[in-house]
Amino acid sequence: MTSTNGHSQTLETDQPGAAQRHGGKVMRFHLKIWRQANPQSAGRMVDYEIDNVPTAASFLEMLDILNERLVARGEDPIEHDSDCREGICGTCSLTINGIPHGGQRGSATCQLHMRTFRDGDTIYVEPWRARPFPVIKDLVIDRAAFDRIIQAGGFITARTGSAPEANALPVPKVAADLAMDAAACIGCGACVAACKNSSAMLFTAAKIAHLNYLPQGQAEKDTRVLNMVRQMDKEGFGGCTNQYECSAVCPKEIDAAFIAKMNREYALASLKDITTGLGSAVD
Ligand code: SF4
Ligand code: FES
Repeated sequence: MTSTNGHSQTLETDQPGAAQRHGGKVMRFHLKIWRQANPQSAGRMVDYEIDNVPTAASFLEMLDILNERLVARGEDPIEHDSDCREGICGTCSLTINGIPHGGQRGSATCQLHMRTFRDGDTIYVEPWRARPFPVIKDLVIDRAAFDRIIQAGGFITARTGSAPEANALPVPKVAADLAMDAAACIGCGACVAACKNSSAMLFTAAKIAHLNYLPQGQAEKDTRVLNMVRQMDKEGFGGCTNQYECSAVCPKEIDAAFIAKMNREYALASLKDITTGLGSAVD
């Protein structure tokens, strides 16, 4: 994963005033970035030298600066995903120096700043590495497997119409807090990328828990856990072997205890499925 082509491209600033505009606080980095033209082609690490990066720049802004310089030279920019750039959408899936999201506790890649690196550092940038997340191009991966897990049970059957009065359906404080903790999952997939088994159990457990804790989620509680876990297995994600790398890299610090809850609910629902037949939808 860390082989290089042996050539280094120097991308010096095309803005001579950059250093002055940022009070002289700029940095230089040696970047080793995964380039892959399409899902079928073999990828490789490519070396880039970049200077005049403001210390205030986020990691994604540093990549933007690099891409502007590549485009100015008539080269193909590095494809990478981002949307909200404030830790909400979960699209900024980069493995930085071998750690999904770069290792800053409770942060997505978009919340990581260049000032956390040292001037002159060598930084490795790769896409998520997991078979169910194939690389589309460069650093962009296909996370449709997560969408299919959600489609299998990450919903409630609710009547459409105006929203009911908030206090009409009492929810115990502990259940409401746990549901909100689980709902913080942004579906980024870092948990899968960090796990040696490519397990999606933290993601799936969070998506099950945030509905199963609440009264509105009770009607499909059993079929939800059966269908989502079976879809997760069908997508090729591995099982949890209690390494907790998932929680360690999770930008929302989702607790691995949700996995234990999912396992308990799955065991009970499987028993009911055998004895009464719940009619779960996944083969
Ligand atoms: S559990 Fe955490 S790491 Fe996994 S998808 Fe959700 S937010 Fe991302
Ligand atoms: S770009 Fe949305 S979470 Fe990073």
